[in-house]
Amino acid sequence: MKLRLILGGLIAIVPAMAQQQPQQSVQEAQALAQKIAQQTAQKPLMAEEVFKNVQILKGIPVNQFMETMGFFAASLGLNCVYCHVSQSLENWDRFADDVPRKRMARSMMLMVNELNQTKFGGRRAVTCYSCHRGAEQPRVIPSLADQYGVPPEDPNLVEIAPDAPKVPTAEQILDKYIQAVGGPQRLTRLTSFVGKGTYEGYDTYHAKVLFEIYAKAPRQLTTIAHTQNGDTTATFDGRDGWIASVDKPVRLLPLLPGAELDAARIDADLWFPAGIKQALTDWRAGFPITTVEDKEVTIIQGTAAGRSRIKLFFDNETGLLIRQLRYSDTPVGTVPIQVDYSNYREVAEVKIPFRSVVTWTNGQTIVELNDVQPNVAIDAARFGKPAQAIVTPVKAGAR
Ligand code: HEC
Ligand code: HEC
Repeated sequence: MKLRLILGGLIAIVPAMAQQQPQQSVQEAQALAQKIAQQTAQKPLMAEEVFKNVQILKGIPVNQFMETMGFFAASLGLNCVYCHVSQSLENWDRFADDVPRKRMARSMMLMVNELNQTKFGGRRAVTCYSCHRGAEQPRVIPSLADQYGVPPEDPNLVEIAPDAPKVPTAEQILDKYIQAVGGPQRLTRLTSFVGKGTYEGYDTYHAKVLFEIYAKAPRQLTTIAHTQNGDTTATFDGRDGWIASVDKPVRLLPLLPGAELDAARIDADLWFPAGIKQALTDWRAGFPITTVEDKEVTIIQGTAAGRSRIKLFFDNETGLLIRQLRYSDTPVGTVPIQVDYSNYREVAEVKIPFRSVVTWTNGQTIVELNDVQPNVAIDAARFGKPAQAIVTPVKAGAR
């Protein structure tokens, strides 16, 4: 229900962004293009350079700013236009307008900062979610139903118990996974693949559109979603990555060191599990066994090059990877990003997941592959910096 609300807001934004393009003046577009050309990973484009009325969330990259909005939406269980005028849906610029709830959210940010500074030694002990818990109005009276009922367990919240047995070890669990997908010999024989399938998300109004994937070991990955508003391309060449999206306020952004590059890297690594043990470091086991969709799972955790914490969930019965959970930091709190893998099928005798679902605070996307060609030569340029995304406003009736 809540998710629908949040998604509802985002679904409505997309046409707004598509229509907004022609309204942008030529000078504005040129100025922005110049800024984008100048940006490097060292000096990313900051929120206040792109948006018009940023008073608190300054000095953070554009993507992180949007993730902060996702954190607000998730914390209060709201869609975007609850804190923004409804015209924002037709015109991206109107997000800059101030309304009482947006001002309230600003004052809440200051309150939370002060609380953490003065009462918790600057540690982020309290976030919007601590009080709001997915509701506009924090509760003030305890719920007896909660107190005496059985709370639903969220497997994502399970953490290592201090006295938990450390067997099976992370290495044993990874070995079982390597066996489950084909064994070390077969894995080394799959060195690349090109796949086609479908993609759906808020940026396609939840309709299925054509999707392409190019993957090459070690860790090179490019995906293209042919949305109704134009192509959204994500590339990772093993070191650097870019996102050229028709659905973001900036149409080409480099991935930044830290969570963004870590995410691209692990996504690329997971297509070629032969190198999985080296993909992350500081592997840890000892999570209590939990369940995902009634399947018993074992969780392990690793640390990526940019210090991100990544959890992997394995199906106890099949040994297959069924979930990846990672985190991204915003100035107001940490947002979780979950990728669920299923429908494993053999490609050159190696099992790969033909379905993957990404769920995060700003939405959900589903990829379903239907044609995968193994060991195809792929031009190196395919994984390099893509061209800026070009928005082609959605045709009447296409929705
Ligand atoms: C709980 C309230 C709240 C929610 C929900 C919320 N926002 Fe915001 N938004 C804010 C606040 C507060 C600011 C101003 C931040 C500042 O001044 O530092 C802002 C600013 C923005 C801006 C910058 C506008 C400009 O030009 O200055 C954009 C764009 C934006 N929000 C988009 C979104 C989107 C998209 C969503 C839904 C995912 C969303 N917001 C959800 C409170 C909210
Ligand atoms: C210490 C607890 C606490 C924290 C932390 C907190 N809030 Fe609140 N918030 C409240 C309370 C209590 C209210 C309701 C105030 C009232 O009764 O009018 C509220 C109300 C709001 C409202 C207005 C809701 C409405 O019904 O119009 C917004 C928007 C809001 N909070 C945003 C945030 C954001 C964004 C954060 C994180 C930066 C945050 N809050 C963190 C306690 C908190």
